[in-house]
Amino acid sequence: MNHPIGLFDSGVGGTTIWRALVRVLPYESTLFLADSLNAPYGEKTTEEIIALCEKNTEYLLNHNSKLIIVACNTATTNAIGHLRNKYKVPFIGIEPAIKPAGLYTQTKVVGVLATQRTLRSDFFAKTKEQFLEKDITLITQEGLGLVPLIEEGKIETPEMYQLLEKYLQPMVAQGMDYLVLGCTHYPYLTPIISEILPQHIRIIDSADAVAKQTERILKQNNLSATDKTVPEHLWLTNKNVEILQSFASKEIKVHYESF
Ligand code: DGL
Repeated sequence: MNHPIGLFDSGVGGTTIWRALVRVLPYESTLFLADSLNAPYGEKTTEEIIALCEKNTEYLLNHNSKLIIVACNTATTNAIGHLRNKYKVPFIGIEPAIKPAGLYTQTKVVGVLATQRTLRSDFFAKTKEQFLEKDITLITQEGLGLVPLIEEGKIETPEMYQLLEKYLQPMVAQGMDYLVLGCTHYPYLTPIISEILPQHIRIIDSADAVAKQTERILKQNNLSATDKTVPEHLWLTNKNVEILQSFASKEIKVHYESF
């Protein structure tokens, strides 16, 4: 089926998932919504997050999305159960990759940097319970202030560097050897984070896992693209086109849309 895969995020972070997706599924068309007007989601209530997710989902469904990727950890951990109950389309979610980190850590100390709402969600508590062995220490750090700076395009700035240092140094001191990036905006911070962290600490995120899961679910539902022609990609923002365009390569159309 040649309808697009729909994706949404609270803003530009979903583009990190989009990139992994088109690497794994080069024939699929996509429609991506950056809800930057309402970013950050991470400091909103669960009810507010659910309402925003419904709004985004309905826009994507009205534009023929055959599957929806909730390209936001905060939206997934707070709303995916609700979305799956309410709408018939298949949903793929994203959550912090603490499972692989817990399997591979040598020091038995894993750090996760994510939004307040992700770390405080029941969903995250259940994932921890289900997938982390009892001998693993999980250090959680809320990334307050990081998403708003990324949304303004202020990535390589002293302000960002100072915030990250403040958040990461105590995690290093506690002996973590894996840092999980539990927000789709954060992979854009990897160059700065790598400067701050000692070299032996591995930084991981969930983008590739989401792309592979999408491939599996498309196949299972007979929804894969049948037409092996050039796919179309459209990125929409309800705030600032230039900022979203700065995260895009030239062949991607970025437009303003009120959604
Ligand atoms: N990209 C979102 C996530 O993965 C950012 C959340 C926010 O807007 O605070 O959680």
